[in-house]
Amino acid sequence: MPDFKHILVTGGAGFIGSNFCRYMLKRYPSLELTVLDALTYAGNLENFRDLKDNNRFNFVHGDIRNKDKVEPLIQKADAVVNFAAETHVDRSLYFAGDFVETDVLGTFVLLESARKYGVKRFLHISTDEVYGSVDEGTFSESDLLNPSSPYSASKGGADLLVRSYYITYNLPILITRSSNNFGPFQFPEKLIPLFITNAIDDIPLPLYGDGLNVRDWLYVIDNCAAIDTVLRAGEPGEIYNVGGSNERTNIEITQIILKHLGKPESLIQPVKDRPGHDRRYSISSEKVKNLGWKVRESFGEALAQTVLWYVENEDWWRPLKDKEFQDFYKLHYEDRETKDE
Ligand code: NAD
Ligand code: DAU
Repeated sequence: MPDFKHILVTGGAGFIGSNFCRYMLKRYPSLELTVLDALTYAGNLENFRDLKDNNRFNFVHGDIRNKDKVEPLIQKADAVVNFAAETHVDRSLYFAGDFVETDVLGTFVLLESARKYGVKRFLHISTDEVYGSVDEGTFSESDLLNPSSPYSASKGGADLLVRSYYITYNLPILITRSSNNFGPFQFPEKLIPLFITNAIDDIPLPLYGDGLNVRDWLYVIDNCAAIDTVLRAGEPGEIYNVGGSNERTNIEITQIILKHLGKPESLIQPVKDRPGHDRRYSISSEKVKNLGWKVRESFGEALAQTVLWYVENEDWWRPLKDKEFQDFYKLHYEDRETKDE
């Protein structure tokens, strides 16, 4: 099991990356982290507000597509964990080029640099969406990729490219493919934080299609623990699914949120379905469980804590629902305005 002194966390100013930094600094008292992040609309220095004074934590503002920024940072690191990506499926319907640029080309720049300077481990964060939708049964790591959206296709491209650097160049890569995360510091465009923050303000909750699409929800801290496990104990060249074993329909999630907030179900607004909307994701996590990882948080408790976090941290999320956010939602939800026939 390799010992890491300094990890480069790309995309660490986003939701999962910032939770991962907090998790690792607490768990490993001498570990140093450097975050490289372009601070797109989804990146936010406020996600680190409690880490500002930690002298084992450094932040560098920059783009993973910029080789001149990336190379000196990789030279200093003995591992890379790559979270950097455009991540929102709905945005990929309008700005697919940004997804190809960052998710595929950005990952390529990181891989080339890691190959040039060498690292003990290169852990790439992929997603269960690369398998596509499955009505029945569950995907394992050897199943073929069948992505549906420009987001998941870009992630699929990056995932394949990363693996090729192990096969071709013996770069010690690892890949995790996790299911839907939820928890503190998630940008309020994704289902759970959008619906919590809309409900707090009595704004309608736009539920796509029949609301019966299924996602497997995973508390972000459990995912951070899985990433740490794979980084330390995973076999180079291998892929690990990380699921919450907690499949729920969107309507079920929506009802739980409304109940926690004491808000009426009349806030639910059925709208036109997302184009290419995957019906159900389902993955088996047996392989990562064999490394000693398991889900620790109860879903009910973690979702209740998450709702409470948004109630108590309005100063964090209110500024994010700004003009750019409203402009995107105007564009996107005008397309969703009418319900499917
Ligand atoms: P996020 O959108 O909250 O954060 C992405 C971060 O990447 C932001 O800080 C952003 O500024 C940064 N970034 C974007 N383009 C960049 C670039 N060109 N150079 C440098 N930084 C850039 O995303 P997240 O939800 O935290 O997801 C993190 C990773 O996990 C992504 O790779 C995503 O595909 C994957 N993933 C997410 C989930 C989920 O449910 N959120 C599930 C499975 C996999
Ligand atoms: O499965 C992992 C993936 O989960 C990650 O790779 C992605 O980065 C992450 O964004 C997420 O993708 P989803 O499309 O599953 O997440 P999202 O929160 O956008 O939507 C969850 C479900 O809720 C999906 O079935 C669509 C539905 N939905 C979403 C929004 C934003 C609605 O019904 N209404 C909405 O307004």
